[in-house]
Amino acid sequence: MSKKIKTAVFVSGNGSNLQALIDSQIHKNFSINLVVSSSQEAYAIQRAKKANIDVKIITKSKYKILEDYEKEMLEILEKYNIQLIVLAGFMNILSEKFIEKYKNRIINIHPSLIPSFCGKDFYGIKVHEKVLEKGVKITGATTHFVNEIPDGGQILMQKAVKVKKNDTPEKLQKRVLENAEHKILPLTVEKVAKNLLVQN
Ligand code: GRF
Repeated sequence: MSKKIKTAVFVSGNGSNLQALIDSQIHKNFSINLVVSSSQEAYAIQRAKKANIDVKIITKSKYKILEDYEKEMLEILEKYNIQLIVLAGFMNILSEKFIEKYKNRIINIHPSLIPSFCGKDFYGIKVHEKVLEKGVKITGATTHFVNEIPDGGQILMQKAVKVKKNDTPEKLQKRVLENAEHKILPLTVEKVAKNLLVQN
């Protein structure tokens, strides 16, 4: 069997990006060995279980100190020998210390064309509301490495999506997810995993 990069996917909600990764896994350079959910209610947990992937639910509110929360996560990641992390709709911000440990090994997906409509106030449906408010004609999705600046790390892939006249934030969100996010996330993880395999 060929070697694959051991990957953990961090989720908080529906997990359609996780599903896109699961569906694209066969014959590729990465394996999803672990799903970390920040919420007990995330539908992503069901998707992971259906695909026989181990799930750890680590809720931030359980910990008084951020350090303890991240310590727990790091211990689990080490236990699974995780080499690559994918933030797929993960709603918590990670500390600089955590990010430094996995430098150029944490990928995030953001539902706009960075550097537009990004940063700490732009998440979820808000991104698409702002896109419609501004009246831009093209939006899309971006994958990037995570650094200490929210949505500020090196851009890996982008895909554009046209804004339509009768779009609502929800309609646009769905189109960006299906036509851009679900396409570029698996491709990005593949590419990064391939590079890591070459380096190792
Ligand atoms: C996606 O739009 C992602 O870009 C954003 O949160 C959403 C998560 O969707 N950060 P899902 O949970 O993968 O369906």
